[in-house]
Amino acid sequence: MNLNLQGQSVAVIGCARGIGRAIAEGFAAEGCNVRGFDREKTADFITTGDVTNLEAVKSFAADMGTVDHVVFCVGIGSGKFGFPFWNLEPSDWSRVLEVNLIGAVNVAHAFAPKLIESGAGSMLFLVSVAGQMGSQTDPPYSASKAALINFTQCAAKDLGPHNVRVNALAPGMVKTELNQSIWAAGQKKLPEEQRVSFDDWAAEKIKKVSHLGRWQMPEEYAAMATFLASDHAKNITGQTINIDGGQVMHA
Ligand SMILES: NC(=O)c1ccc[n+]([C@@H]2O[C@H](COP(=O)([O-])OP(=O)(O)OC[C@H]3O[C@@H](n4cnc5c(N)ncnc54)[C@H](O)[C@@H]3O)[C@@H](O)[C@H]2O)c1
Repeated sequence: MNLNLQGQSVAVIGCARGIGRAIAEGFAAEGCNVRGFDREKTADFITTGDVTNLEAVKSFAADMGTVDHVVFCVGIGSGKFGFPFWNLEPSDWSRVLEVNLIGAVNVAHAFAPKLIESGAGSMLFLVSVAGQMGSQTDPPYSASKAALINFTQCAAKDLGPHNVRVNALAPGMVKTELNQSIWAAGQKKLPEEQRVSFDDWAAEKIKKVSHLGRWQMPEEYAAMATFLASDHAKNITGQTINIDGGQVMHA
């Protein structure tokens, strides 16, 4: 399928590694001009900054000139294990909400005028299955993703008349550093003799949550992100699309 994205300008926020990096590479492979923003500089195309800093995000957007597509891939957890929720302090919530939700809102504010000016385009937010089913693993993380799914719909309604589409893409279990930090937080709570390796923990969890029984890979999100940016998806907006091995099903 020809996606016809050659020459389009794409901003990928949160692309130093993991899913965001695969998405940036996916757009580059389609012939797009890709610029990245992340707190870590692991490649030349990345401008360093924190998404919670609105001025830094705005200055990155201003520096880009015309923009056709924006993808927000940043996401952090609290670093604590959430069963029960009082394992966390209320103060553990602030940074997670600030990065995962307000960071996305900052990006939407900085880029919406540019997308409107382009006369067509798209915005995509990486969310999670956790935002759709009250996942207990990390309640502030789940709540931040639920809120971002809702904001996706608000933004889709506002930007639809400008021919700008806004969608959310929800991973399930992807082999990235994010999952390693969830495993590490869980192990800290266990007595020494009950601790397991990351690979054993992951194999057990994948058996429990995925109906296909296998990990998702970052490249699968790149394939969906580029498709959603293309004209083949011109009537898709306000949607949350799960690539999760069937973890969430709305029967
Ligand atoms: N890995 C999974 O299994 C999984 C599952 C569900 C949802 N997700 C979501 O998918 C997205 C990508 O996840 P990933 O696994 O690639 O994560 P990751 O931790 O590998 O990558 C996240 C990126 O965001 C950057 N980042 C973090 N905080 C930042 C900040 N304040 N400002 C700027 N950059 C910042 C990091 O440097 C990193 O490059 C996230 O939104 C995550 O919540 C991932």
